[in-house]
Amino acid sequence: MNLTRLTLYGFRNLAEQRLDFGDGLQVICGGNAQGKTNLLEAIFCLTAGRSFRSADDQILVGQTDGADEKVGYRLEGEIKRRDDALHPLLIFDQETKRRTFTLNGAPLRRVMELWAEVKAVPFVPADSLLVKGPPLLRRQFLNRFLGQKSALYRYHLQRFSTALRHRNAILKEMQRGNRGESLETWNGVYQEAAQALVDERAAAILQLAEAAQSFYRLLSRRGEAVRLAYQPASWEIGKDLAGGARREIAAGTCLFGPHLDELEIRLSGRAARFYSSEGEGRCLALALRLAEYRILCEDGGDAPLLLLDDALSELDGSRREALLDLLEPLPQSFLTTVTIDELPRRQREKASIFDVQDGEIKKRPDPAG
Ligand SMILES: Nc1ncnc2c1ncn2[C@@H]1O[C@H](COP(=O)(O)OP(=O)(O)O)[C@@H](O)[C@H]1O
Ligand SMILES: [Mg+2]
Repeated sequence: MNLTRLTLYGFRNLAEQRLDFGDGLQVICGGNAQGKTNLLEAIFCLTAGRSFRSADDQILVGQTDGADEKVGYRLEGEIKRRDDALHPLLIFDQETKRRTFTLNGAPLRRVMELWAEVKAVPFVPADSLLVKGPPLLRRQFLNRFLGQKSALYRYHLQRFSTALRHRNAILKEMQRGNRGESLETWNGVYQEAAQALVDERAAAILQLAEAAQSFYRLLSRRGEAVRLAYQPASWEIGKDLAGGARREIAAGTCLFGPHLDELEIRLSGRAARFYSSEGEGRCLALALRLAEYRILCEDGGDAPLLLLDDALSELDGSRREALLDLLEPLPQSFLTTVTIDELPRRQREKASIFDVQDGEIKKRPDPAG
């Protein structure tokens, strides 16, 4: 799928403007703090329903020095797919604190409905936290990846979240000595949904591991062995629920389920979370994101949008070329960079180049005319 048009209003430091994007590589070029990441963030919001760096819509609203106070933000896109076009529209109203999201004019009840239609894979330098941060971030990565990949996963994730909430509330009551609602009423849904998530994660991680290894080899200088090890809190939820009821009541919370899983990443046999350097973390995260992208492509349908923030600066000359070679045949990808000199001439000539300065984004004229 290709983002052909983006209309911005009131989003971070970005000026009110309409942008037309082309096929293939879209290079977003500009100095520090000009708005490159903000642009990728805007595109991501429109495809995922939320930002990759802030959960708070109010932070996304453009702040000006008084004169031109923004009433909220508004993002509108046009996305061409193989057989149709989609028009996502996301509006956040600063006064009512309400957001509305529509797709081709029809309101979306849940953002996950969007994930079925529009796919996007981002990479930002802060993704090193995917490797070096807490397990929660890796679970979110798995949920977003599998949420885009599988309708069944989305269905079970929704049911599991509801069952988890209810079971936690009941267990808390029971911990206090109250009888509360019967735990049994939620056990069935909980067990079924949790087991489905665990099984899908286990299968997908095998696929991810293989792809991540090959991308890491391509992008890192030494190409060490990458291992992904799934460590679920429970492999057999039904059994653990039956045998562990007393422990759960004592804890006042659900102890078995995919909300406690870990995806362990190992580099050269050592846990990357604790041992890898900042640079290795970023490179591993980039390999994971590219693995996610490739697997989503293999499922058929339209290729996702690929949004790479500052992905070149970590890489030396030949790895840069390797990454750019990967991007070249893709229907559309976005890449931010401080200077266009980071790109070899061949790629520069083919790409659409946009300069960002103080939130204003301008397309460079095509050298071929
Ligand atoms: N809500 C906001 N309103 C106005 N400016 C913002 C807002 N959020 C961030 N900014 C500013 O946007 C600028 C550009 O940010 P960013 O896109 O991250 O830069 P870069 O081009 O280095 O990726 C920064 O100076 C930042 O302070
Ligand atoms: Mg940036």
